[in-house]
Amino acid sequence: MSRLVVVSNRVGDPSKPSSGGLAVALGDALTKSGGLWFGAGEVVDAATPTDQRLHLKPLDNKVTLATLDLSREDYDGYYRGYANGVLWPVFHYRLDLAHFESGHLDAYRRVNRQFAQALASLLQPDDIIWVHDYHLIPLAAELRALGCQQRIGFFLHIPLPPQLILAALPGHDWLMRALFAYDLVGLQSEADMVHLRRYLVAEAHAEELSEHSFGAFNRMLRAGAFPIGLDVDSFIAMAEAPPAQETLATLRQQYAQRQLLVGIDRLDYSKGLPQRMKAFRTLLERHPETRQQATLVQIAAPSREEVEAYGDIRRELESLCGAINGDFSELDWTPIRYLHKPLEREAVPGLYRAAKVALVTPLRDGMNLVAKEFVAAQDPADPGVLVLSRFAGAAEQLTEALLVNPYDTDATAEAILHALKMPLEERQLRHQRMLANIREHDVHAWQRRFLETLMDVSPA
Ligand code: G6P
Repeated sequence: MSRLVVVSNRVGDPSKPSSGGLAVALGDALTKSGGLWFGAGEVVDAATPTDQRLHLKPLDNKVTLATLDLSREDYDGYYRGYANGVLWPVFHYRLDLAHFESGHLDAYRRVNRQFAQALASLLQPDDIIWVHDYHLIPLAAELRALGCQQRIGFFLHIPLPPQLILAALPGHDWLMRALFAYDLVGLQSEADMVHLRRYLVAEAHAEELSEHSFGAFNRMLRAGAFPIGLDVDSFIAMAEAPPAQETLATLRQQYAQRQLLVGIDRLDYSKGLPQRMKAFRTLLERHPETRQQATLVQIAAPSREEVEAYGDIRRELESLCGAINGDFSELDWTPIRYLHKPLEREAVPGLYRAAKVALVTPLRDGMNLVAKEFVAAQDPADPGVLVLSRFAGAAEQLTEALLVNPYDTDATAEAILHALKMPLEERQLRHQRMLANIREHDVHAWQRRFLETLMDVSPA
């Protein structure tokens, strides 16, 4: 069996289930074949010699963690400047928030080259390499330039925008051409595939060889939608475990006379938090019976605070929450409980289960696993209702959620009311169907499908 090499900007420890996200997603694939997980390390002094920047740490499950330290200037330009100051906003359709500076692009290219050089020194000829997310799009091209011929796959966790939005990105042709160094490119949704196909044909003049393969630049690129899922069983086990149960018991007691709504997000402008608050305000204004009743617990975990747009969105959100609480609170009731910090991972399923309604209303999102976690955490006998933005990748699978357009404040407010009033039988039926879906398309199926497809492709 070939060794699996996973590359992502952030590395996790797959032996610790609480580290969440990608770590859980890739943990079993890495442990099965033995593997290497490579990513960014610490920020170090620019004078630190290259051979002192690469660190290898064997974990206790046949997995080695490899990290490469970066200089402050490189890291800032690559992570804050280009990945999160340009690619993140553009790929989430926010050209207005992108700051193009050639120095940042230079740093992005430089860091990808440094990663490739360090990684190439650790590779074995029959390794399978799986690169993750927008920080590392040119990595395979850099590896190929060093002579690497291993199979290399790429998975984009965020959306791929429509052709003309991508085309507004200076250097888009260089960036998209770099995809052709991969043997397989995975996207989150069919909508993203439509955008990729259109871009490749119209901008890269690629030949459509089949629904999932394109020819250009003397290379063939295979691409497909591989919607990421949850480790459903572990998540349900976490929901049954003491920390979640304690959280649930406390919240049930506190909110016995009220209806709890929940939102859990990184504080990111893609998550539609101001729009969500406006919809919640409209609900309270138009439906006075929800006052003293509906209480929204909004966790907004600090994220990328070194990027300017994140400071702006925080101020906007806090001003809206403050105004709603000021206008509607009573001595014994506050409509929004806003927490600007992450919730402990083990407590999260308890909060989901205590809630009657989850508000997952991003303006654009690659997938959004909060939506799937909320479904997994529910009691099937008395499940809560998911209000989900149609612009989250998850909406392609969770069609039994109440799908909303988060820009439409009035309609979102009405959907929240509908969710609060939904009869038990309808809640059960919708939940049953969504649970079956997230079970069938769980994270194990996701990584198996991606890696099997990658193994099927003839190597470069
Ligand atoms: C999204 C991205 C990930 C990223 C995560 C947290 O889910 O797709 O690649 O790791 O956000 O963002 P951060 O900048 O803190 O790594």
